[in-house]
Amino acid sequence: MLILGIETSCDETGLALYCGERGLLAHALHSQVDLHAEYGGVVPELASRDHVRKTLPLLREICRRAGVESTEIEGVAYTRGPGLIGALLVGAALGRSLAWAWRVPAVGVHHMEGHLLAPMLEPEPPAFPFVALLVSGGHSLLVEVQGVGQYRILGESVDDAAGEAFDKTAKLLGLPYPGGPALAKLAERGNPGRFQFPRPMTDRPGCDFSFSGLKTAAITMWRSLEPTSENRADVARAFEEAVVDTLAIKCRRALEATGLKRLVVAGGVGANQRLRARLRDLAAERGGEVHYPRLEFCTDNGAMIAYAGWRRLASGQREDLGIEVLPRWPLDQLTAAN
Ligand code: KG4
Ligand code: ZN
Repeated sequence: MLILGIETSCDETGLALYCGERGLLAHALHSQVDLHAEYGGVVPELASRDHVRKTLPLLREICRRAGVESTEIEGVAYTRGPGLIGALLVGAALGRSLAWAWRVPAVGVHHMEGHLLAPMLEPEPPAFPFVALLVSGGHSLLVEVQGVGQYRILGESVDDAAGEAFDKTAKLLGLPYPGGPALAKLAERGNPGRFQFPRPMTDRPGCDFSFSGLKTAAITMWRSLEPTSENRADVARAFEEAVVDTLAIKCRRALEATGLKRLVVAGGVGANQRLRARLRDLAAERGGEVHYPRLEFCTDNGAMIAYAGWRRLASGQREDLGIEVLPRWPLDQLTAAN
C-alpha cells in the first residue's frame, strides 16, 4: 500500500511517500526557520501561508524522486493535531481533498504518534512493548507503548515542554531562534562543573516533569554574571546537564515501573547528543536498548506521518469526508490499530 504523508502542524512542511512493501520511497522537507527567525518564534499566520505555498511543489518533488505517478497513491495521511490550527488546516484540507479526488482513503494522524513511531523507519526497528520518551517543542511525555494506538501516559510536563524550555532559555541568553540546537552547541564549550541547577521534581515519586523553574534558575544565574561568552556557555552547559539528568532519572523510573527494558526516544529534543549518550548508558546499564529515529526524523517530518498513516490505513481505519483538525488532542485518546 503506497501512502502519501503530509505534515504541517507547526513550522515545517514535510511530505513523504511510504510503501508498506518497499519502505520509505521519498521525503522532502521545507523548514520555515528563516521566515520566523526575525520574530524570535513561530508566527502562526505566516506559518499557515507558507504551508500553502510549499505543499504542492513538495508533492511534485517527492513523486518525481520516487518515480511515482499520483494515480499510484493508495491512501493519504495528514497531521490532524495537536498543533497550530491554521497550519493543521492547510495539511488537512489538502490531504482530504487529494484523497477525495484520487478516490482513495484518508486518515488524520496524531503528530506525537508520528514521532513515537518514527524509529520504525530505521533498519532495526524497536519491537513492542516499549517505553517512549517524547520530547518536542510542545510536549514532554513518558508513555508505555503496547502497540500502535495502545498508549498509557506515565508522566508529562506540568508546565513547559523540554524543547520549549530549551527555546525560552536560549532566547533569554540572546541566542538565535530556534534555540534548542543553538543552546546545545554553545553548551559544548561550557565548563561542566561550574554551576549546578536543580533537577526538578526528582525528589518526589512519579514520572511528571517540570522545566519552567530550571529556565528561571538559568536566567537568574546569567543575569548575576558578567555577560561574557564564557559565562554564557557555562550557564548553557549547566542548563543542558540539568534537563538531560532530569529526563534520564524519569526514564529510569518509567522503565522500573513498567518492568520494560526497551526505550524509544523521539521528538526534536531527541536530537540532543548529550541526551542520547546519557540514555544509551542508562539502557546499557539495565541490560536493555534504546532506539532513536535518525537525526532528520527526530524533528518534524512527513515520513513519520506517512508511516503512522500507513499503519492505521492498513489496519482498516478510514475517515469520512469532513475536514477536521484537533489543535489539542490527548495521545491516550487514540484507538488501537493492529
Ligand atoms: O518535534 P519538533 O521538531 O517540533 C515539535 O513538534 O515541537 O521539536 C522541536 C523542538 C524545539 O523546541 C527545538 O529547540 C528542540 O526540539 N531541539 C533541540 C535540539 N534540536 C531540536 N533541543 C535540544 N537539543 C537539540 N539538539
Ligand atoms: Zn513535532
